[in-house]
Amino acid sequence: MIVDGTLGGGGHSEALLEAGASVLGVDRDPRALAAARERLARFGPRFTAVQGEFGAVAHLIDAPVDGLLLDLGVSSPQFDEPSRGFSFQADGPLDMRMSDEGQTAAELIASLEESELAQVIFEYGEERFSRQIARALKFAQPQTTKEAVKAIEAAVPRRAWPDKIHVATRTFQALRIKVNEELGQLDDALTAIPQVLKPGGVAAIISFHSLEDRKVKQAFKALCGDVPDDLPRGLPMIPVKVEAQFTALTKKPIVASDEEVSANPRARSAKLRAIKKVEGVK
Ligand SMILES: C[S@@+](CC[C@H](N)C(=O)[O-])C[C@H]1O[C@@H](n2cnc3c(N)ncnc32)[C@H](O)[C@@H]1O
Repeated sequence: MIVDGTLGGGGHSEALLEAGASVLGVDRDPRALAAARERLARFGPRFTAVQGEFGAVAHLIDAPVDGLLLDLGVSSPQFDEPSRGFSFQADGPLDMRMSDEGQTAAELIASLEESELAQVIFEYGEERFSRQIARALKFAQPQTTKEAVKAIEAAVPRRAWPDKIHVATRTFQALRIKVNEELGQLDDALTAIPQVLKPGGVAAIISFHSLEDRKVKQAFKALCGDVPDDLPRGLPMIPVKVEAQFTALTKKPIVASDEEVSANPRARSAKLRAIKKVEGVK
């Protein structure tokens, strides 16, 4: 049994089912679940799907599984539907919730203090104009994506707009990560991996930005018994030999080929890392 913790449109699950696996699909978005159930009905009882969060994967399974797959972030159907509010390119309500629960991005902007909002934009968007943007958003109280874009454009001096991405890209990423608590979900899933996998089981995670990839890289390194690179340097520390429970299947992350990127430009920033639980480890 393989858990596809980010079922989405069911593309990965379909490939796994076609290869003969049984799959439990998990998604927090009820619309994704409905579409994937329809697409994958032909596989009968080999495919089951539940609404839930992959951060709680340990509670969604009855016993350890052979694989856990996470393809992080937003799906194309979510991103391309203006009424979901993820895209700065189309006008829609400033929502950004993957499930239909919790605070929308508009409500988040209204409820946070300006300094807290600036911190979110700085930390999750790595945006250097975070303070100016937070001030503009608090003032504008945008209810739609276009209103938010207008406020962001006005907050960043024209000469400082980035060349390769839209000036609102980083802020939209930050709001989306916060609304969906994406990094907390990832932390919880990474912590659960040893408990969720059988000996010989594989965890594979595809990430789309450096905040996610850094977490995956460090957690996988630790599980493989490598000393993490972010330990303070210069301290009189004796490295502890960690008992490795896992081996790395990807020494370097796997990235999409040029051919794949031209067929699917969203694959451009994808990085796949995978580890395997050592046989004989409980
Ligand atoms: C990039 S898409 C996955 C696409 C999928 N691999 C496919 O082949 O169609 C990510 C999906 O994961 C879901 N998702 C994101 N974070 C989640 C979480 N913490 N728990 C459950 N589902 C989540 C989103 O709702 C979205 O449908």
